[in-house]
Amino acid sequence: MCGIVGYIGKKPAFPILLSGLKRLEYRGYDSYGFCVLNAQNEPFLYKRIGRISDAEKELLDLKVEGNIGEAHTRWATSGAVTNKNAHPHFDCSKNIFLVHNGIIENYQELKEKLIKEGHKFNSECDTEILPHLIEKYFEGNLEEAVRKALREVKGTYGIAVISKKDPQKLVAARFSSPLLLGMGQDETLVASDPTAIITHTRQVINLDDNEIAVINPNNFFILKEKPLVQIEWTPEEAEKGGYPHFMLKEIMEEPEAIENAIRGRVMVEDGSVKLGGLDVIAEKLREINRLILVACGTAHYAAQVGEYMLEEYAGISCEVDIGSEFRYRKPIVDEKTAAIFISQSGETADTLAALREMKKKGILTLGITNVVGSTQARETDAGVYIRSGPEIAVASTKAFLGQLATLAMFTVFLGRQRDMALVMGKRIVSELSKLPELAKKVLKLAPEIEKLAKKYKDFKNFWFIGRKYNFPIALEGALKLKEISYLHAEGIGGGELKHGPLALIDENFPTIAICPSDSVYEKMCSNIEEVKARGGPVIALATEGNEEIKKIADEVIYIPKTLEMLTPILSVIPLHLFAYYMAVLLGKDVDKPRNLAKSIVVE
Ligand code: G6P
Repeated sequence: MCGIVGYIGKKPAFPILLSGLKRLEYRGYDSYGFCVLNAQNEPFLYKRIGRISDAEKELLDLKVEGNIGEAHTRWATSGAVTNKNAHPHFDCSKNIFLVHNGIIENYQELKEKLIKEGHKFNSECDTEILPHLIEKYFEGNLEEAVRKALREVKGTYGIAVISKKDPQKLVAARFSSPLLLGMGQDETLVASDPTAIITHTRQVINLDDNEIAVINPNNFFILKEKPLVQIEWTPEEAEKGGYPHFMLKEIMEEPEAIENAIRGRVMVEDGSVKLGGLDVIAEKLREINRLILVACGTAHYAAQVGEYMLEEYAGISCEVDIGSEFRYRKPIVDEKTAAIFISQSGETADTLAALREMKKKGILTLGITNVVGSTQARETDAGVYIRSGPEIAVASTKAFLGQLATLAMFTVFLGRQRDMALVMGKRIVSELSKLPELAKKVLKLAPEIEKLAKKYKDFKNFWFIGRKYNFPIALEGALKLKEISYLHAEGIGGGELKHGPLALIDENFPTIAICPSDSVYEKMCSNIEEVKARGGPVIALATEGNEEIKKIADEVIYIPKTLEMLTPILSVIPLHLFAYYMAVLLGKDVDKPRNLAKSIVVE
C-alpha cells in the first residue's frame, strides 16, 4: 500500500528516486521521504507530508549528492500522516535508514522490548521497529543484521535498507509484499512496483518471499539464481498493474482487501478479534444496547449487511440510514446508543454531517474508514481502518469487501463482550480467515462472467433480488451496474417482487437472483419461480454443489460455501465483475463514469 524506490549505481541517485516516486503517486499517497548517502557516507534525509508532485520544483532545487539512496511514498494504514511517521525510518544513532511496504503485526511487542533495551523511538509508525532491530544485531555487516532482525518480525514487508556503517550497499528483502530489482547498466534499482522504474529499465528480477538481495554498485547476490524477466507493459498499463482499468485491478485485489482487513486482528483459538482502534472505548461499548449505522452509496450497503450481522450475532438492536437522510432526522438517542459511520474516503459530506450531529448529542461515535487521517477518522471517538489501500476507480469495489470483513470482526468483538459463545466466535473467525482463498477462487470465474455479460449486454433493464444478508448485495449489484454501464438496474428484497416489480417482468427483463444455500434459500427459489412463470430470464448465484437450481434458473454462477453471515463477501464479487464486463462491452468509461465522482465532499 506504499511505494518504494531504491537506487545504487554511478548516477546521482536523487533525481532517479524522485522520478520513480512521482510515477507511484497515481495511487494517492499522503507523505513521502528520501535518504541518499553521499561519497562521505553522510545521509541526506528528507521527509514530508503531502504530494510529491506539489513539491517537485522545490525538490529539484535541492542539491543532493550521492549515488545510493532509497525513497518511499506512504499511504498510511496506522499512525497519523505526519513528517515523523513518513519513511525512511532510522535507528537511534542515525546509521541505518529503511523504507518499508507492509504491516508489522507484532510491532507493539517488539517496540516495548526494544524500549526496555534502551532504544529511543521517534515516530508512531510500526516500521520504525525495523531499523532499531537491525541496529541491535548490527556488527558491521548490514545483510547479516537484516537477516537476524527479520527472523523476529511477524507480518508483511518489502524493505530497502542502507547504512552509513556498511556503505556502498543496498539490502532489500521481501515477505508477502512485492519487491523487484531493476537491472540497468552499472546500476540497480529496487522498487515495490514496476511503474517506478519502467522508464529506466525493463529488465527485472522479482524477489520471492524470504529472499534478501544484497546490491553493490557493480553486482548483487540473492539466495537463489533468479531468471531475468522482460516487462511487456507500457508505463500506463503498469500503473494499473497490467489491467486495462483500475476497477478491474481493484476487483482483483478483493481477496487482498479481506486479508488486509483481518491480518493480525483475528484470533482463531480465542474465538475473538483484536481491534486496536477500539481499545480506548472497549469498556464503554459493553454498555451499548443500540447501534446506528450511517453511510452513503456502497458503504451504506455494507452498513445494511452489518445490521444483519450485529443483530443476529452480537444481539444488539441496529438501525441503518443514509447520511443525507439521517442528518435531517430527529433521532432519539441515549447514552446506551453508539453511532458507526462507514466511509471509504472518510470525507463524504453527508456522512460527516450526520457524524457531527451525533457528536452534538454526545453519543459515542465510531468510524470504519479506509483513508488514514481523513476527517471522519479524526472526528470519531474511535474506529477501525479497513486497510484496503488506495481505491482509484470511482465505483467502490475492494473497499466494500474491507468494510464487510471489518463489520464481521466488529460483530465478533461486540458479540464476545456479550452472549456469543467461544465456539461461535471460533467458527466465525476461522471461516473469516478462509475467505481470502475462497475469494481468489471466485475471481477465477471472471472469463465465465465475461461470457455471461456478452450474452446479456443488449438487455436494458435488470432486477437484482436477494434476501436477508444478500438483500443489500442485490442493492450493491444493481448500483454497480447502473453507475458504470448506465443501464437501468434495481435491487429489491425477493419478497417485494409481488408487491409491484413483477408487473414489469417479461422476456426482456432479466433477474439476477442471489440465492446461496442459506436460511432463506427456499424463499428465494419461490421468487425465482415467480419470475420464470412470467417469462423473465434468471441468472442465479448459488452455492457450489447445488445442481437443483439449474432446473429453475437459466444460468448459474457458483460461489463456495461459507457461513451465512459471510456469504455477502463472496456473492458480491461476481456482481462486481458482471458490472465491469457489461460496462466494458458497452464501451463506457469504466473508471470515471459520467456525472459521478469518487468522493462527494459537498451536500
Ligand atoms: C461516491 C462513490 C461511491 C461511494 C460513495 C460513498 O458516490 O462514487 O463509490 O460508495 O461515494 O463514499 P465513501 O467514501 O463515503 O465510502
